[in-house]
Amino acid sequence: MNDSCIPETLVIFGASGDLTWRKLIPALYNNYHKGRLTECTHIVGIARRPYLDNDFRAHLKEGVAAFSPDTFDPALWDKFASLLTYFQGNLDVPADFSRLEEYLRGLEGGPASRVYYLAIAPELYIETVQHLGNAGMAKPPVGTSLWRRVIIEKPFGTDLESAQELNQAVHAVFDESQVYRIDHYLGKETAQNILFLRFANTIFEPVWNRRYVDNIQITVAESVDVGTRAGYYDTAGVLRDMFQNHLFQLLAMVAMEPPSSFNADAVRNEKIKVFESIRPIRLEDTVRAQYHGFASTTGVAAGSQTPTLAALKLFIDNWRWKGVPFYLRSGKAMAQKTSEIIIEFQRPPHIMFNLTENTEFTPNILSICVQPDEGIHLRFEAKIPDSPQKMSSVDMEFHYRDFFQGALPDAYERLLLDAFAGDASLFNRSDAIEACWRLIDPINKGWEQQGVPPLTYYESRSWGPIEADQLLIKDGRRWRMGCQDGGSPIYASH
Ligand code: BG6
Repeated sequence: MNDSCIPETLVIFGASGDLTWRKLIPALYNNYHKGRLTECTHIVGIARRPYLDNDFRAHLKEGVAAFSPDTFDPALWDKFASLLTYFQGNLDVPADFSRLEEYLRGLEGGPASRVYYLAIAPELYIETVQHLGNAGMAKPPVGTSLWRRVIIEKPFGTDLESAQELNQAVHAVFDESQVYRIDHYLGKETAQNILFLRFANTIFEPVWNRRYVDNIQITVAESVDVGTRAGYYDTAGVLRDMFQNHLFQLLAMVAMEPPSSFNADAVRNEKIKVFESIRPIRLEDTVRAQYHGFASTTGVAAGSQTPTLAALKLFIDNWRWKGVPFYLRSGKAMAQKTSEIIIEFQRPPHIMFNLTENTEFTPNILSICVQPDEGIHLRFEAKIPDSPQKMSSVDMEFHYRDFFQGALPDAYERLLLDAFAGDASLFNRSDAIEACWRLIDPINKGWEQQGVPPLTYYESRSWGPIEADQLLIKDGRRWRMGCQDGGSPIYASH
């Protein structure tokens, strides 16, 4: 241990789980690899399993080798592994928290700051937070600059009521400034880049409004099906799993007003204004669908009506966006994995060129490619050489992989560093969580209680049901795909 720095301890509850294995430890290892964790860092895993430190390390080593093969280096791992220890404990047992506190003090050997990471089943959040409070672990020693923070994974509630209950329970123990609610989409480089694209440039913002934008589309399509998470997914469905958090966060980044600084509250104040300006979403502007085969998946209730895909249209009633439709869709078992945001611009007011009959005019499209081929594409019209008046759509493309060498870091790397650094700008505040549930709850209720609109079905590996296309077709629009190389296919539908 280096005497010159104050220990910072990350305490992971749920240390034997998949998230720790697949995401958290590989992200921490990569931060260590980049020299971003000090030797004064302790990483303590807590779970019920009777691991010794070395069993725990051996288990995590496999995860890093599997999920971070490019940076995995056995010699470096051994150094990193010396930061890792394991504490066997049961989250139902209050005395285990007192034992844990004692254990941490022994490990830290003096004043230390701490982050508690709840990588546990959401049903255990409230109890765990209460036990932390009762064991005196939530507040730093008075009169010091030491800190205590808590990171909470999604899902943050299953509806407004449960989210409020959870927020109240958390606030009874931690101050909001100590709470870091994770949405891993906010840690994705390309999601963060939305703010840079908009506010570190001057050319986009003047046209980023209802005067120039025809519509905005957000597609988060996954090719995987529900896999081994069928049980959880069947109780959640796509709105709770993807819209309340990831899609709405992307929407906020695209739609928000410029914050006055990159300070956490300045950013989050602007986001909440977006959520609060969204007009209640009409059930007739929603589509819900399930892929064929979902209901016969092990873990899914027979005859399940859980949607695995949704599409919806919404409006933001404010000065900038009045009247501009935002179309959002997300689903499992779709044709391709792609997350992209399309800004479709209006047609020119007058087209003076002779378009040949049946030639569809393609509007300008700015595509923010969140994943997997991260980048930005701008589609515009160009004259076809050696023709009198023919034009073709062409793409200007920026690809992260070409311009910035090296793989993009995983979202958890950034988020864990920010939590250590006390920067909450990429984490959700309690008011935003509740505002998003206020938008989602009436849709879930309409779907579940009134059965409106009816559930439809789609083939696995497709772009979803025809109803999702009709949502746009009835407005004279279509889903666009702007992130394909070379710019050829621009529709993803029937
Ligand atoms: C999670 C959802 O939050 O995000 C999963 O629970 C989903 O169902 C995942 O698969 C998608 O994340 P990514 O980073 O693969 O787009």
